[in-house]
Order: sequence, then structure tokens, then C-alpha cells
Amino acid sequence: MIQNTSTIDGFYDFEDIYQKFVDECPDGGKLLEIGVFKGASIIGLAQLVKESGKNIEIWGVDDWQNNHIYNTFFANTIQQGVTHMIKPVRAPSGIAYIGFPANIFFAAFIDADHRFSAVVEDVTHYLPKVTKYLAGHDIHLPSVKLGLSKTIGNDYEVIGKSWIYEK
Ligand SMILES: C[S@@+](CC[C@H](N)C(=O)[O-])C[C@H]1O[C@@H](n2cnc3c(N)ncnc32)[C@H](O)[C@@H]1O
Repeated sequence: MIQNTSTIDGFYDFEDIYQKFVDECPDGGKLLEIGVFKGASIIGLAQLVKESGKNIEIWGVDDWQNNHIYNTFFANTIQQGVTHMIKPVRAPSGIAYIGFPANIFFAAFIDADHRFSAVVEDVTHYLPKVTKYLAGHDIHLPSVKLGLSKTIGNDYEVIGKSWIYEK
């Protein structure tokens, strides 16, 4: 039975974007989340993938500097029955990207460090890794807006508190 993730402490208000990722991702494709925390959003994504019946690989990058938060994330994936669907990469986003070949993901969502320089780095590092969409959270923050204008310009759509850029 699919349970909802609303009881998991987090910031998951972008289900419409994740639904779009899942609807459009080809069978056998891969999706990435950067900034996982306790798993509210990536577990939500796994549940959408489950509902779709598609074979989609889900990857999550987070440095999880706090062991307790990593353990909570892992326990949440077990509780929601999606541990086998999520591949966690416990590393800073500025290092993890090196391990991913170009165009490996259909889409990626950035919800990590929202400071200007981090946004510039994450967008620069992960845009070459996606074939279709790069998106992210907290577009209301001036640092995120500025980071986007320095990298992809203003050619993105705002959906709720998130932004989405189509390649
Ligand atoms: C806002 S939380 C993510 C929330 C999650 N997407 C949700 O909806 O519940 C931000 C996460 O980004 C991670 N993070 C921040 N800077 C990072 C970096 N440079 N590399 C990897 N992870 C980072 C933090 O460890 C934290 O778990």
C-alpha cells in the first residue's frame, strides 16, 4: 500500500514537478534529487514512480553531515517501503557530480545549499547531466534568482516555490 510522506519532516511542496518528471521520463530513465534531508521529497518521488509502474532509477545526493539525519532518512525509506528504489550518494554536490556521466539523468531537482555561489555551482555542474529538465526549490530567495540569472538566464518557469528549466 502506498502511504503518504506528509508525516516526514521536510520541505516537499513540489509534487507537481515530480509528477511531470515521472510522467515524461522514459521507461528505464533516471531521476536525481540534490538535497535529500530526511527524505520527504525523494520518498514522495519514489511513490509517484511506484504508482506509474515505470522502471525509473532514483538517485539522491546529500552530504548528510549529521549522522542522525542520515539515519532518519534511511529509516523513513524503510518505513515507506522504498529503500530499494533510491540510490543515496553521501557526498557534497560539488564532488558527487564528477561521478555522473553527461546526460545520465532525464531530470534533476536542486534543493541543497541556496546561497548564490552554491546555486551557480550546482546549476553549472548538473545541467550537463540532464537531457530534459533541471529544476530547483526556493525561487523566492534572491540568491537563487541571481544564481539562475548568472547561469541559465531568465528562461525558466516558476511553479509554486520552485523553478524549472527545459533544455
Ligand atoms: C532543504 S534540505 C532538503 C529538503 C528535502 N528536499 C525535502 O523536501 O525534505 C537541504 C539538504 O541539502 C543538503 N545540502 C546542503 N548543502 C549541500 C551540499 N553542498 N552538498 C550536498 N548536500 C547538501 C543538506 O544536508 C540538507 O539535507
